[in-house]
Amino acid sequence: MEKEKQTQSPKRRRLVLVPCPYQGHITPMLQLGSFLHTVGGFSITVAHTRFNSLDPSNFPHFQFVYLDDRISEHEAIPADLIAVLLDLNVNCRASFEDEMRKLIAAESEDSGEVVAGVIHDELMFFCEEIASDLKLRSFVLRTTSAAASFARMTLVRLNDEGFLPLKESILQDPIPKLHPLRFKDLPISLTTNFTKYSTLIKKMYNMKTPTAAKAIIWNTMEWLEDSTIAEIKNKSIVPIFPIGPLHRMVSARTSVLKEDFNCLSWLDKQAHDVVIYVAIGSIVSLSEKEFGEMAWGLANSQQPFLWVVQPGAIRGSEWIEALPKGFRESVGGRGCIVKWAPQKQVLAHKAVGGFWSHCGWNSTMESLSEGVPMLCSPCFGDQKVNARYLSYIWRVGIQLENGLEKEAIENGIRRLMVGEESREMRERTKNFKEKIEAYVHKVDQCSSSTYLKELVSLLYSF
Ligand code: UDX
Repeated sequence: MEKEKQTQSPKRRRLVLVPCPYQGHITPMLQLGSFLHTVGGFSITVAHTRFNSLDPSNFPHFQFVYLDDRISEHEAIPADLIAVLLDLNVNCRASFEDEMRKLIAAESEDSGEVVAGVIHDELMFFCEEIASDLKLRSFVLRTTSAAASFARMTLVRLNDEGFLPLKESILQDPIPKLHPLRFKDLPISLTTNFTKYSTLIKKMYNMKTPTAAKAIIWNTMEWLEDSTIAEIKNKSIVPIFPIGPLHRMVSARTSVLKEDFNCLSWLDKQAHDVVIYVAIGSIVSLSEKEFGEMAWGLANSQQPFLWVVQPGAIRGSEWIEALPKGFRESVGGRGCIVKWAPQKQVLAHKAVGGFWSHCGWNSTMESLSEGVPMLCSPCFGDQKVNARYLSYIWRVGIQLENGLEKEAIENGIRRLMVGEESREMRERTKNFKEKIEAYVHKVDQCSSSTYLKELVSLLYSF
């Protein structure tokens, strides 16, 4: 239907996508772009920072323009992520405006195209004002769970009520009016500077100024987060489209780092459901001690494992030089370590029976979609909220509550992979997989496909 509309229309429509330049944000934005291009018939321009940019040859149908971010490569794992995000919103403005003006000028030179709008990551909010000045509509893509966003929005109230900065003594307590979260699950740490963070939060969730976005696109599922989404919809003055999980709606090669496909052959040699896959995030920084505890936890669990260790993730090391003495001998062929894995294929592999994860939202949805239960080691931010839901509400994960400690890791892996508790958790996770499968394909009022169709119609309606 939309394609028909497009052929009748004199001008093809172009959308400008602005991802936040970290893997967990780039992935859903480019998946959305691929869907809007292949199904919606839109032309796509990706306005990307030079920092962390991906190989444009994976997207031959997209046009790429680059923003002058002034972020150096050593900030890939930043010490102060909030400061980097605030800087990005200042630094990228001028080049984004230039690029947009060029696109609009090309449009008036009768290119047969019209710029239909800007879709930006919730963290790249600088785009809204520029889009508004240029008389373009903007749309926000939220890449975290609805529950995590809701928790972030609640931080302002908790600050007003005197709960911030967080105190050690209340971390285990439930948060008033925010079931099931405890203070320790909030997307904030004991040391976060709330003044800076609240600037970010207010900009991310500002929907009330005239420049604000015209709709919110959310990489989540309505059935999974129904009550939170209903509450957010009630408060929102713009439509909300929960269109996730995007990785099930479209396939796209979105990896910034080179994936090591050899690990799939290693998995082929393992029995069913025995391998624990370990990947704890694309923005993670571990001490040598934590790395050593992880290594011994894995070794002592006696379970086969596939472990992603990103170069630079261990402070003071290039890659895995800090593996403890005796670890390799103890593990032998039972373990495989790679720099970056084709994660979705790994999770879909029959040998993988568990995922030890930082619980980033993409990883969470990818694991649930394959029916793989999780060992949860949230590092920061929204990951803590996801871990709480996985372990306490959905009961498809076990949370390591006290950081990285080898006995707890070994015990957690055993509980996840073998015995009655493991069997029950696997059953529940398989149920999630089936529900996701059904939800992605069904065509009724509140499925992802329906929301995506409505979104396409909205983008054509302006
Ligand atoms: C962060 C937040 O934690 C996340 O919740 C938010 O939505 C986006 O920013 P990140 O730490 O990158 O994300 O984690 P996650 O959301 O899980 O995304 C990581 C992506 O990298 C996943 O799509 C995963 O498939 C991919 N990945 C990871 C690989 O392809 N290979 C790997 O070896 C590891």
